[in-house]
Amino acid sequence: MARTYNIAVFVGSLRKASYSRKIAHALESVASEDLKLKIVEIGDLPLYNEDLETATPPESWTRFRNELKNADGFLFVTPEYNRSIPATIKNAIDVGSRPYGQSHWNGKPGAVASLSQGSIGGFGANHHLRQSLVFCDVLTLQQPELYISQVQNLVTDDGKPANENARNFLSNFMQAFERLVKLAVK
Ligand code: FNR
Repeated sequence: MARTYNIAVFVGSLRKASYSRKIAHALESVASEDLKLKIVEIGDLPLYNEDLETATPPESWTRFRNELKNADGFLFVTPEYNRSIPATIKNAIDVGSRPYGQSHWNGKPGAVASLSQGSIGGFGANHHLRQSLVFCDVLTLQQPELYISQVQNLVTDDGKPANENARNFLSNFMQAFERLVKLAVK
């Protein structure tokens, strides 16, 4: 039987009608059966504070770190806030990177999808996120880059690609990510 790969998906927006969450579902809908995508919630993680790094850290930190441990790869779907990533994504990266010397990101494959309702497709967020992922040693998919502009035209309200072009665009990205995951995970 072919092995399957657990992909933890992080959504950089907390609002209910988030396009990022819809895109996460659309990416899941075009992924092959070998990838099992699961959204890992990050909105309940207390802001990183080293003083909380005791024998009993916040419960949600432990839950989150265990989800990272169990994942074979990571998929980030994020809007752009003020030309960078939303604080919620940065906080998740920070929580996952500690305690010191016990980062949960190291050496696993990852991919970044950024989006905007305007025309720049979250380019700034995409590259700021990549900067942290380099340091965290996430083996990040280089090509194709996924900048989704005018996201409102690309995804339906129930999280499906809005048309054939959108399906191909998202599917092409997921196929490349799947190849990377299969190369990186033994
Ligand atoms: C934004 N938005 C935005 N858009 C963009 O293209 N570049 C930017 O720098 C910003 N900055 C920004 C800051 C803040 C605080 C907010 C709340 C919004 C717009 C934003 O990307 C857009 O609303 C997305 O649709 C938000 O993603 P979700 O919530 O739909 O997933």
